[in-house]
Amino acid sequence: MKTYFIHTFGCQMNEYDTGRLEQILQAGGWVPAVSSSQADLLLANTCTVRQLAEDKAFSLLGRWAKMKKDRPGLIIGMVGCLAQHVGSKAYLRAPWLDFLAGPQALKRVPELAEKARRHKRNHDFSVYDDGPEDTASSKQASSAYVAVMDGCDQFCTYCAVPQARGREKSRGPEAIIEEIRRRAQAGTKEITLLGQNITRYGWDAAGAMHLAELIRRIAAEVPAIRRLRFLTGHPGAFTNELIQTMAEVPVVCKALHLPLQSGSDAVLQAMHRGYTSAEYRGLVARLKKAIPGLVLTTDIIVGFPGETDADFTSTLDMIAACDFDLAFCFKYSPRQGTEAAAWPHQIPQPEKEKRLAACMRLVEEKAIGRRVKWVGRKVSVLVEGPDPKTGRRLQGRTPENFIVNFEGPQTWIGEEVEVEITAAGNWAFMGDAENTAAGAPFLRA
Ligand code: 5AD
Ligand code: SF4
Repeated sequence: MKTYFIHTFGCQMNEYDTGRLEQILQAGGWVPAVSSSQADLLLANTCTVRQLAEDKAFSLLGRWAKMKKDRPGLIIGMVGCLAQHVGSKAYLRAPWLDFLAGPQALKRVPELAEKARRHKRNHDFSVYDDGPEDTASSKQASSAYVAVMDGCDQFCTYCAVPQARGREKSRGPEAIIEEIRRRAQAGTKEITLLGQNITRYGWDAAGAMHLAELIRRIAAEVPAIRRLRFLTGHPGAFTNELIQTMAEVPVVCKALHLPLQSGSDAVLQAMHRGYTSAEYRGLVARLKKAIPGLVLTTDIIVGFPGETDADFTSTLDMIAACDFDLAFCFKYSPRQGTEAAAWPHQIPQPEKEKRLAACMRLVEEKAIGRRVKWVGRKVSVLVEGPDPKTGRRLQGRTPENFIVNFEGPQTWIGEEVEVEITAAGNWAFMGDAENTAAGAPFLRA
């Protein structure tokens, strides 16, 4: 019996790819190992978005190299975005690697592993033109990701994604709907549609369906799906039709992740984001007007090359003005092969640290003020399982994607229940299901 173990870094798209990779491996006769120390094949599905993700991947590969000393037959593969981005240079940093595969060559992994078993090091960085594929999973999960497109054509000057995942490729709507239908039949209630630049879904194929229409069709054709989300939208491609669809289609979660990156027009332009701070603010105003109670989250990069104190202050002003429910703040990380990495006026590390701390402080201050308002409200929670920290309580998510921990029986897992919020923590809430609908908290089970 050949066994595999996969460690996944990075975003939801990588998690989705890992699911697909598992199916590819299992179809090729591989079975999952209980732990990395029991596996014949170790795979790191990697991320290249920041240096930290790169360092973490190579440090894991270093730990795996030690395991290979004791078990020379062990095969180690590096797949995903970082593998594609660094290419065969990865062998210089990790000479014990047996093979490499980019995110669009995952279907070749069984073949690559087989060759590696015969002591032939090999790799595949091809970009096959069939776009993202079905995970065709029969595994019951209350919540699932479905990729609708891959790649990105925006070419932000900081971003390594186009090098890792290539140009935008939308998947046909019929295949997407079919995959969602199968998921629903297996018990899935929540679907997150994935694409690096998902608001441009269908723009790469003339006359094709756009995101708003895709969402309406999913809602109409697969009624068992109770919650529908999409990630990650680009502010420059956010149509009025999409806002209307979010407002009108009940299963679309009233939560949106809309990366801002910077509040300075000069920096936005240098980043090649394709919108101004006023346009972003206008979009937020239209969204909040059309979708009352919208929960809005964002991404911010601090310390982009040439970012002045005044530019940074504009970012803080935007955070204050947009009233985000949460913002993920990152220090700019120069990525090889991207435009901005070669620019002069890189911001020194201590300054980046300072700006990051100031940014995070403001975000948290604003966010906590918004979160306490939820205490006392009754919310719908899709129960995911036991709280991974305590193992005792149950944990689930609201349509706005807030985590709620509360007491309840295991039989609620996979169900949507009504919970009263009793306390607000950082991103997570504490809740109480007993205080609500006497003993029967199920919401249309
Ligand atoms: N440095 C820092 N942050 C980055 N991101 C993308 N590329 C970089 C980089 N080079 C951030 C952006 C993006 C999120 C996924 O990661 O904010 O929205
Ligand atoms: Fe996801 Fe981008 Fe990281 Fe690839 S590089 S795993 S697409 S965040």
